[in-house]
Amino acid sequence: MKPFKGRDIISIRDFSREELIYILKVAQKFEKQNKPVLKGKILSTLFFEPSTRTRLSFESAMNRLGGKVIGFADAAVSSAAKGESLHDTIKVIEGYCDVIVLRHPVEGAARVAAESAGIPVINGGDGANQHPTQTLLDLYTIKKEKGKITGLNVGFIGDLKYGRTVHSLADALSKFNCNLFFISPDSLKMPSDLLEELGERGTKYTETDDLNKVSRYLDVLYATRIQKERFADPIEYERVKHSYVIGPSLLRKTKKDIIIMHPLPRVNEISPNLDKCRQAVYFKQAHNGVMVRKALLALVLGKVK
Ligand code: CP
Repeated sequence: MKPFKGRDIISIRDFSREELIYILKVAQKFEKQNKPVLKGKILSTLFFEPSTRTRLSFESAMNRLGGKVIGFADAAVSSAAKGESLHDTIKVIEGYCDVIVLRHPVEGAARVAAESAGIPVINGGDGANQHPTQTLLDLYTIKKEKGKITGLNVGFIGDLKYGRTVHSLADALSKFNCNLFFISPDSLKMPSDLLEELGERGTKYTETDDLNKVSRYLDVLYATRIQKERFADPIEYERVKHSYVIGPSLLRKTKKDIIIMHPLPRVNEISPNLDKCRQAVYFKQAHNGVMVRKALLALVLGKVK
């Protein structure tokens, strides 16, 4: 494994299976540990796009480990609104803190920021590209709820074209010999280049627009929001926005121990009636973000041996 101290977290592709397993083990240790190992350290959260979970769970993680947080949750209140480049923003802020979490609408922005910065940069989501810390908390949730990751049948449903959480997680699961099922309307299918990569790695996958055809096989169903903000054509959004709504009736057609995940926020793709079912783990999933982000901050700041 490459050392984690000083490392950027930009894409899940940058991590081997062994490294992913190691991060999950460290996160597990942080389930109950809140020693102030990051006392004296400062995290900058630079969010050029809206967020609830990613920003606040990073801030919670830093606070719980004794560190401090600065940053902004709205690009309109930063000097980006005056035309400052991302490079210049990062060059300035690296002098104010020890680690940066960046969310940005432009694909590749996190990589650009990491190249500009002399301190670790963590990608909190870049456009429709990658969301690696979400993937780590998704893997953590799967491991915790199912007891394993390897060999599971995992279905993804909803916006697979623009869904960065899907792109990152599908990539990671391909390292664990999972069988993947992609369920979407035709216009929101997985990008062909990502499917090609999965194929080259020997990952078995199935594409369909009908959940009923594959629901009985699934150990995990990962639902996603149809993301209005990513559509160039509002008419196309209106056409597909209610494509799938999952409720308790689905559980009559699945394995008893399936888990239903969602990176959240949801709009109407999961009925609130499902929330009380034991198979619905999406709120636990969001809470797991704190453990995983504690682990990542401690690792890149060199506080885990
Ligand atoms: N899952 C996720 O990234 O949520 P936020 O957009 O609220 O951060």
